[in-house]
Amino acid sequence: MSQSAVAYSVQQSVASLIMHNPPVNALGKAVRVGLVEGIEKALADDAVKVIVITSDIGFFSGGADISEFSTGDFEPNLSTVVLHAIEQSTKPVVAVLPGPAFGGGLELALACHYRITHKANKVGLPEVNLGILPGAGGTQRLPRLVPVQQALDMVVSGRPQSVTKLPSVFAEIVDSVEQLPAATQTFIENLDLTADIPRTCDITVDSASFDPALFEQYAEGIKKQARGFFAPFNCIKAVQAATELPFPEGLQREGELFLECMQTSQARAQQHFFFAERAAGHVQDYDKSTPVRDIKKVAVIGAGTMGGGIAMNFANAGIPVTMLELQPEALEKGLSVIRGNYERTAKKGKLTAEDVEKRMSLLTGTTSYADLADVDLVIEAVFEKMEVKQAVFKSLDEVCKPGAILATNTSTLDINEIAAATSRPQDVIGLHFFSPANVMKLLEIVKAEHTAPEVIKTCMQMAKIIRKVAVLVGVCFGFVGNRMIEAYGREANRLMLEGATPEQVDKVIYKFGLPMGPFTMGDMAGLDIGYFVRQSRKAFIEHDPSYCVVADKLVEDGRVGLKAGKGVYLYEPGNRQPIPDESVLEIAKQEAARLGIEQRKISDQEILERCIYPLINEGALILEEGIAAKASDIDVIYVYGYGFPVYRGGPMKFADEIGLDKVLTAMNKYREQLGDYGEAWFKPAPLLEKLAQQGKTFN
Ligand code: 3HC
Ligand code: NAI
Repeated sequence: MSQSAVAYSVQQSVASLIMHNPPVNALGKAVRVGLVEGIEKALADDAVKVIVITSDIGFFSGGADISEFSTGDFEPNLSTVVLHAIEQSTKPVVAVLPGPAFGGGLELALACHYRITHKANKVGLPEVNLGILPGAGGTQRLPRLVPVQQALDMVVSGRPQSVTKLPSVFAEIVDSVEQLPAATQTFIENLDLTADIPRTCDITVDSASFDPALFEQYAEGIKKQARGFFAPFNCIKAVQAATELPFPEGLQREGELFLECMQTSQARAQQHFFFAERAAGHVQDYDKSTPVRDIKKVAVIGAGTMGGGIAMNFANAGIPVTMLELQPEALEKGLSVIRGNYERTAKKGKLTAEDVEKRMSLLTGTTSYADLADVDLVIEAVFEKMEVKQAVFKSLDEVCKPGAILATNTSTLDINEIAAATSRPQDVIGLHFFSPANVMKLLEIVKAEHTAPEVIKTCMQMAKIIRKVAVLVGVCFGFVGNRMIEAYGREANRLMLEGATPEQVDKVIYKFGLPMGPFTMGDMAGLDIGYFVRQSRKAFIEHDPSYCVVADKLVEDGRVGLKAGKGVYLYEPGNRQPIPDESVLEIAKQEAARLGIEQRKISDQEILERCIYPLINEGALILEEGIAAKASDIDVIYVYGYGFPVYRGGPMKFADEIGLDKVLTAMNKYREQLGDYGEAWFKPAPLLEKLAQQGKTFN
């Protein structure tokens, strides 16, 4: 018989309501019903004097069941029915938290009359990350228990807090989870059952404890970091309501603001993204029985930009790394760049001097392959040339122990060809980090034709250890992220030829929500990178004489971007602020005339559609080819690898939200309008056509 979501039992005048809804005790319908019924039973039983709400799994509760949001069935309502019943209980209700309480889980605890937990526990109100706000009284009860500013911080940032930072929330915080049962028993024995029941809703927010201007200032203060987001500003309004309105009216206001958030496409997008991120870890290529290899020692080949960052990830996780370079000078330089990075972090107070030394001590250098004989994983990050990579893999094949995983960080080369240089293609895989590799959360894990399932599984699990979000993809030029970004960069460049200015294009994309537009990004990355890729891909672009011609001219003129002080924009020394340059517009004008392209005024809408829709279309092709297993994987890649705004859910979710028929119509419009160019680049992907015609979505 399956265990009920809330087990009810009575022992020595204490009724226990034990939540059991693994993995996180989400407050789905069964739990809500179980809680209400449990309270009713306990109130009806004269033998019961005290009620305990707790859990028998590691979590107290991860909050409302997000997967139920789309069903629209919220009965019994968590706030107005379940928590109301708990708070208004005429018998004291004690929440005992053996593990974290998030969102509705914390709101449940706040509605109880007493809370007991242990020091190592954490609680939080992360609803803002789902595009909503705590809608079960969290914005009203928390400011009644902690200083208003602290409540604001928790609700608006969504960050979990150690319970030790919230002493006023808890009646007791014991040293360890093991002490909870005994502490609970003693606490209950000592309860004065004749005293008034302390209800959070009865507390008045101390108006002297904060400046009324706080809320306006707070909204101003988060403007930059919350740019484009809707929910954080409603979070502020909800907490403000707690300070201005009596509890029932405040709760009502919270409900209105919650509903307002819930109805936005941002909430749908962010909730989609929550599941997308987790679904990326659900991979068909292996199962529970697939073994996992131990990764205790790592080697990185090449101590350049990527090699250094990659090595840092492992050192940060306490895993020793041997770095191999051809020349001792290159090795020394690589290691000193890493040290510099750590020291800068230490200067900001985010690492101690000991941390720096500890991490550096995990990094050793060598110029000899013989030193890699006992490593479990090698990641190659040398120059992007097939001959160089194949030579490296041949050497690795000769020295590495059987079962060592041989990975490449190539961004464009065929991993099957790299694997073919070894006698063990089953152990070869792509681990495509994003720059800066120690900062960016995304890791594209690229399975080649012969990569063994256990190698894939080991790498997917290893990603978690080094705190990356891994997405499994297949081999093609640029894999998923860079293959799609090609379409976006190409359109931005073509729009410049057609008469848009780089600032206009960048502004449109920035306003859409990316951290910067394509031209600013190109200058930052270095225009030479794209140039070299184009040189190696002549066959792909030869049918389009207009392909990135302005960018090519700039690079050939030494204008390679920020590092040269000039690219599409100009830069003052030591300043990253792009300065528009008329001479670039002049080059665009001349090139347009040479190519017979008429320059015209281009609307912001056209810029947005032409940059984003071809990128989505490429995503559809990638899905059809099976390079990505699911649309949500592409969304994860774009949010974590390219700064696509999470409130749009990723490019594929964005397309779903506006409607695939609209994307298809626009693709066809530009295909017709742009002549040969349109014919070359705006052909809708068959999957897009099919789904649009069926009224379906990617996700
Ligand atoms: N609802 C539904 N499913 C949930 C869930 C929730 N609140 N929280 C987690 N899950 C699911 C995950 O999707 C995942 O499913 P899967 O195994 O099928 O992929 C499984 O539970 C385990 O989750 P994680 O892999 O994330 O497990 P971790 O142990 O790494 O993290 C966690 C646990 C910190 C609780 C994390 O899952 C989390 O942050 N959950 C969301 C917390 C949250 O946002 N709560 C607020 C919900 S909204 C709310 O309460 C509204 C209220 O104010 C009215
Ligand atoms: P880099 O030029 O900064 O570093 C390459 C390093 O490899 C140099 O230090 C060089 O001395 C060393 N090296 C060259 N040949 C070697 C060999 N045979 N044996 C040992 N060391 C050798 O290059 P970067 O940018 O770090 O790129 C490395 C790889 O990472 C390339 O494949 C690149 O495509 C890929 N990549 C780069 C990204 C970026 O943004 N820079 C992003 C993702 C992948």
